[in-house]
This record gives sequence, structure tokens and C-alpha cells, in this order.
Amino acid sequence: MDLTSLDAIQTEAAAALAAAADAPALEAWRSAYLGKSGKATAALGELKNVPKDQKPAFGARVNTLKAALEAAFKERAEALGAGGGSAPKQSGSMIDLSEPGIVGSSGLGRRHILSRVREELVEVFARMGFEVARGPELEDDEHNFVKLNIPAAHPARDPNDNYYVDDPARTERPRMIRSQTSTVQIRVIEAAVAAAKAAAAADPEAAPGGLADPIKIISPGRVYRPDTVDATHSFMFHQIEGLWLDRGVSMADLKTCLFQFAKAYFGPEAQVRLRPSYFPFTEPSAEVDLRVRLRPDAPLRWMELGGCGMVDPAVLEMCGVDPEIWTGFAFGFGIERLAMGKYGIPDIRMLYENDLRFLRQI
Ligand code: DAH
Repeated sequence: MDLTSLDAIQTEAAAALAAAADAPALEAWRSAYLGKSGKATAALGELKNVPKDQKPAFGARVNTLKAALEAAFKERAEALGAGGGSAPKQSGSMIDLSEPGIVGSSGLGRRHILSRVREELVEVFARMGFEVARGPELEDDEHNFVKLNIPAAHPARDPNDNYYVDDPARTERPRMIRSQTSTVQIRVIEAAVAAAKAAAAADPEAAPGGLADPIKIISPGRVYRPDTVDATHSFMFHQIEGLWLDRGVSMADLKTCLFQFAKAYFGPEAQVRLRPSYFPFTEPSAEVDLRVRLRPDAPLRWMELGGCGMVDPAVLEMCGVDPEIWTGFAFGFGIERLAMGKYGIPDIRMLYENDLRFLRQI
């Protein structure tokens, strides 16, 4: 072997290195030229066969060859983001964050059944002109009871039936986590009355009877009751509340609204039935039943949906609205019952356990 063959090795190695485009190719190159039986290493072994007078020049050339190949390797490895060293390793810069993710590698998420049903309900009511309103889950008894016309002696206010909150810092009103979404009716009316007051200051005609505009809201949310947990009860569940206050809103509007909802959500076969009932915050009050096919393979049957009625004038008066000018209806029902019926879920607890084997089936 002579100096020319060393030059040839260097030229060939440079071309091969330029062609190595990824970590495995780089490693193959390293082993072919710089590895134990690589060409540069083998050239050093040739030293013993070189005539004595040429040994110094040959040895020096082998050393520069090795150094050049090592430097070139390092540079190439860096350019490819593989890092230097004998075993090219992955470094952060090799991850292309713009690449699409690998579908199924960690499992695509999906909406929980309750979220899905809530969104479907909101969507149907939104098409009828209802806006979504939200209220706090930590409430006071004024919004949960007093302004809903639920008197102090009413059994619904029993401490055993509510989660009152120990609250030494705040003494004016007992606080609780709400037991119903009807609280949002009060919150929304109060806010509208406060806003109307500002408008009325500028123009007394702007807010006749305490309101400047009709209110048409839907409010989904969590509610809490200390029920013993079983297949149909939970200490926390979800309700959706509706309220439409306007001039001349009547019971016929209420029934039409529920009827349209039932048809939109369950299809044209759906029927609605109102049964006389009693709620402190509505007069008259009714229970709403729906006759629906909960699933395509299920028979048409009646199911209880929730409560409804015309907003009691006492409620409007407590909120500063004149019931001679404004009338409205309200309704409220549970979301779990609908979701369980629709998806054939036999036990309410399945909705909260977050067992993926169950959730993935729906
Ligand atoms: N808040 C009632 C409950 O939790 C449900 C209800 C009944 C809401 C009648 C209403 C209504 O808005 O008008 O049982």
C-alpha cells in the first residue's frame, strides 16, 4: 500500500459519507472506515509492509487520514443531528415537531357521553334561540331557595338534603353547593335587571317593568344532593335549565317549546305530555313526560323528563320584575337520565368511574 491508495481511501470515504443520510447509514460508514476492521484502521496495519524509508511518511499520512475521517464524521453527524461519538444517538433536534402525530399510538380521545348529550341538548335549544348561561356551583340559599319562592320551612331546604358549606368568614347568608340549576334563572334575571336599571337612568322608557329585553337562556350544569349512591342516584349529577321571559309568553309557548325539542332530539314520533304538579317557583307547574324511542331498536314508551311551568309572579317580583308586563316559562331536567336511556346504560355510576373499557364502547 502506498500514499496514493491512502488518498483514494480518503476520496472514497468523503463521497460515501456525503451519501450517508441517516443515523444507520452513518454508523455503517463509521464501521467501514474507522471501525476495528475499517479501511483506515487496516491501512495502519499495512505499515509493517511499507519499505522502511517510507514508513514515517506513510505513518503520518495514515494519521492525517484517520483524523480527517473522524473530523468529517463528526461534522456529518452534527449536520444530520445525530451527534458525534461511536454510536450516533437521537438528539432533540432530530424530532420534527411539524410531523403529523401517529394516530392510535396513544389513543385518540373522545367526548364523554355526558358532555356529548349536553352539547346535543344545547345545540337543539340554541336553534330555538336560547343562549347558554352559566351560574356558580357554590351558591347561597338566597339563589338556591329564597328567590325561587321556596320558604324556610320547605323540606327541600333541610340540611340533610343539601350540602351546606361551613363558612365562618361569611355570615350574611348560608352557603351551599347548589342542589338545582334553577339558581341560574335568578342570577340571569338579577343581572338583566341591574343592566336595565342603568339603561332606565338614561331613558325611563328603556326598561318597562324592570327589564330592557326578553331573556331566553338555557343553562346546563352540575348539581349536588346528598343522596345515597345507587344505580339511579348520585351525590352529583347534571341538569339543564331553561327560561324564557318576554311579554306575553304563555303555557302554549312552553308546550310548543318542549314539543319542538322532543321532535328535534328524538325524531318526529316523539310526543309530549304535561301532568299537573307543584313547584314553588312556577305557577301553574307541570311534570313533563316524553313518549320516545330512546334507541332505534327500542319500543316507543313514556319517560319522565323533568319539571316545568310558568314562572311564579312572586319570583319575578323578588327579582324586581313586574309580572304584569313580563311573563315567562321555565323548565329543568336531568341529563343523566336521558343519556342513560339513549345509550342503554343501566347504572349511573358507570358515567363517573372513567373506566375506559366502558367509555370506549360509546
Ligand atoms: N329545579 C327542579 C328540580 O331540581 C326542576 C324544575 C322544575 C326546574 C320546574 C324548573 C321548573 O325550571 O320550572 O327538581
